[in-house]
Amino acid sequence: MALVDPANMAWQDVYRVLVDCVQPRPIGFISTIDGQGRPNVAPYSFFNMLSANPPVCFFSPGIKGRGGTKKDSLLNVEEVPEFVHNVVTEDIGKRMNQAAFPYDHGENEFEFAGLTQEPSERVRPPRVAESPVHLECRVVDIKSFGDWPGAGTVVFGEILLVHVHDGLLDERGRIAPEKLRTIGRLGGSGYCTTRDTFNMRRPQSPDFRPEEME
Ligand SMILES: Cc1cc2nc3c(=O)[nH]c(=O)nc-3n(C[C@H](O)[C@H](O)[C@H](O)COP(=O)(O)O)c2cc1C
Repeated sequence: MALVDPANMAWQDVYRVLVDCVQPRPIGFISTIDGQGRPNVAPYSFFNMLSANPPVCFFSPGIKGRGGTKKDSLLNVEEVPEFVHNVVTEDIGKRMNQAAFPYDHGENEFEFAGLTQEPSERVRPPRVAESPVHLECRVVDIKSFGDWPGAGTVVFGEILLVHVHDGLLDERGRIAPEKLRTIGRLGGSGYCTTRDTFNMRRPQSPDFRPEEME
């Protein structure tokens, strides 16, 4: 059994172990605007749901390894405390990846990555039109774990409005994974699809009866 002790390692090596250990990770594709109204969109795989009542999600921009500065998405939500999460599908994976390039502050990743801005309804940052699901969020808290390279800051957003494109729902009114075709993040430069899925029912009794779970 390999043991990894973060206290005795360079943070970059800790980062590699952590992203290898937690996979797949959902990809938050986060659009924001700065105080001058300039849009920004960038992927964050330190992203997830946190609460249903109230509905809350988070993303976590790290302090940059090069330069030790904050990422644009964080600077933007500090100025305009709103963001949109745009679900990343197989169709827009490469454009999402292009948006991760470290463009200068104020440069518009929508244009560089070939993505279309679509106005939101409850928040000022635009949505990514090519994404079929959007979560419009209002920032409710920001928690920083430090101001040095690699330190994460968690941005918590209350979900004010969810958009779901027509055609994604199954007969029960649920979003069908085979229609959504999300991609997830693995370690290194790896990604996965949701094409190989299975169902498992919650246990019906205290005794282990795997046949009841099918
Ligand atoms: C799939 C993917 C996931 C990423 N996840 C994160 C993350 O969780 N935290 C982070 O700080 N950077 C993450 N990055 C890197 C940022 O997207 C990158 O630093 C980007 O330039 C930040 O943009 P911004 O400065 O416009 O916010 C990720 C990149 C990719 C391609």
